Amino acid sequence: MSVGKSVARKDALEKVRGTEKFVADLRLPGMLYAKMVMSSSAHAQINLKGISDRKLRKNTLILTAADIPGKNILPLVFSDMPFLPVAEVNFHGQPIALIAAEDKNTLIDAVRAYKVEYMPLPAVLSIEDALKKDAPRVYGTDNIFKSYRIVKGNAHEAFKQAPRIAEDTYRTPYQEHAYLETQGMLAVPDSDGSMTVYGSMQCPFYVRDAVASILGLPLSKVRIIQAATGGGFGGKEDIPSLMAAYASLLSWKSGRPVQLVLSREEDLIFSSKRHPSITHYRTAYDEQGRIKAVIVKYYLNAGAYATLSPVVLWRGTVHAAGPYRIDNVLVETYAVATNLVPCGAYRGFGTPQILFAHESQLDEIAHSLGRDPLEIRRINLISEGDTTATNQKLTESVGARETLEKALKSSGYKQKIFEFKNNPGKEEWRKGIGLSTVFYGVGLGAGGKHLDRSGAFVQLNADGSAEVAAGNTEMGQGYKTVIAQIAASELGISYERVRILDVDSSRVPDSGPTVASRATFMSGNAVIVACRELKTRLLPALSEKFSTSVSAPDVLWKNDKVIQIATGREIELQELAKFALYEKKTGLSTVGWYVAPNTTFDNENGQGDAYFTYSYATNIAEVAVNLRTGEIKVERITACHEIGKAINPQQVEGQIQGGTLQGAGYATCEEILHDNGLMKTTGFSTYIIPTVLDAPEIVPLIAEKPYSQGPYGGKGFGELPLMGVAPAITNAVRNATGVKFCQIPLTPERVFQQLKDANQAILKTAKKN
Ligand code: MTE
Ligand code: MOS
Repeated sequence: MSVGKSVARKDALEKVRGTEKFVADLRLPGMLYAKMVMSSSAHAQINLKGISDRKLRKNTLILTAADIPGKNILPLVFSDMPFLPVAEVNFHGQPIALIAAEDKNTLIDAVRAYKVEYMPLPAVLSIEDALKKDAPRVYGTDNIFKSYRIVKGNAHEAFKQAPRIAEDTYRTPYQEHAYLETQGMLAVPDSDGSMTVYGSMQCPFYVRDAVASILGLPLSKVRIIQAATGGGFGGKEDIPSLMAAYASLLSWKSGRPVQLVLSREEDLIFSSKRHPSITHYRTAYDEQGRIKAVIVKYYLNAGAYATLSPVVLWRGTVHAAGPYRIDNVLVETYAVATNLVPCGAYRGFGTPQILFAHESQLDEIAHSLGRDPLEIRRINLISEGDTTATNQKLTESVGARETLEKALKSSGYKQKIFEFKNNPGKEEWRKGIGLSTVFYGVGLGAGGKHLDRSGAFVQLNADGSAEVAAGNTEMGQGYKTVIAQIAASELGISYERVRILDVDSSRVPDSGPTVASRATFMSGNAVIVACRELKTRLLPALSEKFSTSVSAPDVLWKNDKVIQIATGREIELQELAKFALYEKKTGLSTVGWYVAPNTTFDNENGQGDAYFTYSYATNIAEVAVNLRTGEIKVERITACHEIGKAINPQQVEGQIQGGTLQGAGYATCEEILHDNGLMKTTGFSTYIIPTVLDAPEIVPLIAEKPYSQGPYGGKGFGELPLMGVAPAITNAVRNATGVKFCQIPLTPERVFQQLKDANQAILKTAKKN
């Protein structure tokens, strides 16, 4: 059985050889190149002047909102964002007009020559400003797109009685996805008036909705085919809908294929990012370190349109109190409108932000009691039978403690705490160690339950090979590989005999978005449903071959054979399939359909079974801090993840390696700067992400507590590796320096300033004689 084995990735060879075709590699006869004219103001009334040069005008196709035949609204959660603005721009980089040309030079000249007159309006540029009484209105009457509440027990009462209280305000920055491949789409008009779009995306069915909306077409006339996708990380959940709509509109008007691929600068300015956040976190606890209550206020800077913010906010809300047993919880959360780029999904959907606040506060509690931060986790962590903040009783597959104990042992935490204290480091360098334990709801949960279903087409061929087309997408996370492993294991055939097809919206059922770490669980289960149906269909043929009535429990599907358990009698699957197809005329292709286990959430008090299951992780970070420069070296991170079952352990380790490094970048160096609402960080020369040279030693560990509803017990965990890294690092820096950090990234400037404020910095070199 290939499940549980580290088989080679399905897409490995094409990727390492460079033969895989990404959108930018595609060329079609008559194809036009396209670009967007982007707003250079954060908030203004606009007057479109266009291009005065006649030759340029003649050689280009220029479209604005007035040219949209369908609806000028991006269909997504609130549907508040126009594809193209009519009279007003609301953020720097907002696309205003679309231009297509036969060659790239003409195109670039035309974009430069296109004139827009801006009449500036007051812009709202921060959460604090947006919430002021007299703030200019970006959305509604209060600049709040959405808010949620969790009320469990009576937090205010518990605070009155608690012997101790911790309180702090935590801030987190933007984070850019920095996928290797920028956003790109290729729209191709068909002669029957329908539109086909190839592109880099996570959510083909969202893209289909958007193209149908802008062109005013029925869904059946829009076909979306995912091209190879060079990373998404959540950034290709919403933006591809806009990109495909733009390419399709130009293609519709010109009758030609149109390719729209962003430069890195355009991508950085226009595409969604992780929301900056502010969290006021208060914890009531007793002398033993037991948490009695938390009161949390959480604010996300959502940008100019709601896009995915309600979903991101909901997930942050549900995870606000971490994987801990807390009887009294009051959480209030807000997605705040500003004149900045609309933020969206990024690995974790609002969870890394709030977990940073909570895991930092747990260390604050430990320090105030003079206890090891580890003990605070041990005392409060949830186990089977406990309830979460939303009062969900967790009954199975709760691995929080396992991850903690396994990571502690492997990292040598206890010795190191002792060692670093007694032997803090060489000269100005101080060593420290810190940890975090976090959880993560798998799938869309109650907040997106209408989308939580998935379909998979499986076809068994006469030679015993199989094709699978499931409705989720590969974006580097190893989806094709694990889905092939599940299909192979279910049909009892070798992994090499399974081919996974790219998603084509006209050939697979709408399976919702490929987000929320749901693909292995949802598509995996849909594939299992389909394979079981095929095996049932083969039983009459099998009975005839074995000359006895055979039912499902009587046989094993294994090693490309079907084996009768009682007698050991076997038949090659190939022989059976051929016999069934040609003699019995059995249909050997089918679509499996899987609906996620039920989830609930009441909007009044935020109580319910928010997610059907959770995965868990502990990160232990070891750092060295330079007291003279504020520089931090993250030396090692031990990351243990409890994920139900590792379908492919090597891919799991790969996810841990990549996600942990993204988390380290978030904690230490990634930052986007603005000047008056205009984004200044527009390239990788100033947006600093860690390279291999900055990478700490990452020690990936896997814990398994199978989940009864998961494919082979698996739960899904693609986002989890990033989730708890930042607080583990800041807690380690605190351990090294004794100074607490409530704001990331820990750039040398910020660290030095705070060390200085706390009299911990080394200001001058003592002169040696
Ligand atoms: N890994 C790679 N290599 N590339 C990606 O784009 N996206 C992450 C994670 N791991 C991503 C990745 C995000 S944001 C999600 S939601 C999950 O993969 C989605 O995949 P899954 O559902 O198969 O876990
Ligand atoms: Mo991932 S942020 O759910 O695409």
